[in-house]
Amino acid sequence: MGSNGRSQQMHQTRIDLPQDLRIQVIAVLNQSLASTLDLKTQVKQAHWNVKGMDFFQLHSLFDEMAEELEEYIDMVAERVTALGGMAMGTARTAASRSTLPEFPFDILNGQDHVMALADRYALYAKEVREAIDTTDELGDADTADLYTEISRAIDKRLWFLEAHLQTSAETLSLNGADSETETPKAKKTRAKK
Ligand SMILES: [Fe+2]
Repeated sequence: MGSNGRSQQMHQTRIDLPQDLRIQVIAVLNQSLASTLDLKTQVKQAHWNVKGMDFFQLHSLFDEMAEELEEYIDMVAERVTALGGMAMGTARTAASRSTLPEFPFDILNGQDHVMALADRYALYAKEVREAIDTTDELGDADTADLYTEISRAIDKRLWFLEAHLQTSAETLSLNGADSETETPKAKKTRAKK
């Protein structure tokens, strides 16, 4: 994470946030910009290439998701510039800095596309949630709020994706498995067995 050692070019601004704080927040934002751009292109990849009986609904859903990510790309990039920084949003920068794995090119059907996107949305959701905490701790409530908005939408999309995969058998198999959502009490009970 961070600006990959590249120095941040800063512009003069009348904003009342100290420059050292802004530099740190901008590094977080530019990291998110790379991951969000990467995720958007992967969702488009799925939109174009998904096949099977669910083609049309997935094709449409994926396009809606890509449009939503496009809005967040703009929000994140423009928060960078509002803080006096330079938004790093080219395809090359996104590819080199994104934390997400490349989209698989050997898949065809709807379920595999949904699974690949759910894996990536979960990773991205974690990155965004960490960014809420980091920017909040740095003292930039506005950027933390921007991330909170994105986080809520991404969690909702992850639900949309996972709802396609949650057959009753798969849902049941999570019980007693290594679920991170397991309560400490349930974990203890299971450990005793
Ligand atoms: Fe399209």
